[in-house]
Amino acid sequence: LEAAFQNKSLAGKRVLITAGPTFEPIDPVRGITNLSSGKMGYAIATAAWEAGAHVTLISGPTALDAPYGVQRQQIQTAQQMHDAVMAQVNKQDIFIAVAAVADWRVANASDQKIKKANDSDTPQLQFAQNPDILASVAALPKAPYCVGFAAESENLIEYGTAKRIKKNIPLLVGNIGHNTFGKDENELMLFDAKGHQSLPRADKRTLANQLVSEIAKRIKSQA
Ligand code: CTP
Ligand code: CA
Repeated sequence: LEAAFQNKSLAGKRVLITAGPTFEPIDPVRGITNLSSGKMGYAIATAAWEAGAHVTLISGPTALDAPYGVQRQQIQTAQQMHDAVMAQVNKQDIFIAVAAVADWRVANASDQKIKKANDSDTPQLQFAQNPDILASVAALPKAPYCVGFAAESENLIEYGTAKRIKKNIPLLVGNIGHNTFGKDENELMLFDAKGHQSLPRADKRTLANQLVSEIAKRIKSQA
């Protein structure tokens, strides 16, 4: 009973989260995708819900169940993720882009399964760039508070600092790919206008709770 009266850090806020990879078809049985289990994004969805928020999760293909209390919409492609986000972003207070969105889709995808030829003939794939979902949201006249993620393979501090400024967002969360992909633990680096700050290695649920309180703190100081 006491818990019901606690002042939750995101009470009454609406939070929209993207998570998981996207899947870009080559033909009806094949495609290209990114490495992402969805665990970090789903953990953040749960943490935000526990902090009192109304949470919508737009998710690419993962093996995970919808988190308790969270409204989940499943999509496959980056374009579908973009459209789902844009359809719901207007009423949101916070947007957290955790998804590993494919930067490119196959421009010459086939409606029919491509058959293997007998000789060394291989399909020639052509690519088109996908919309940048986070950049589109951040550019809206009434943009919600935007949080981006960056998975890098090296130079995290340099790339993270530059990416936050390029994406024009107040908060960017950096991590190193091989520390996180498929794992239950991770370590995060937060980049904002004041500099950077690390959240040391811990399980993703713990990090998600810490990140949610960091976001809540920043929103309070904005208001
Ligand atoms: N993102 C997005 N839509 C895209 C690509 C990325 O919303 N089409 C979001 C991701 O969810 C993440 C952030 O943008 O929150 C940064 O993604 P990242 O791939 O690190 O950035 P890019 O600008 O695509 O740069 P890079 O060339 O390093 O891939
Ligand atoms: Ca990218």
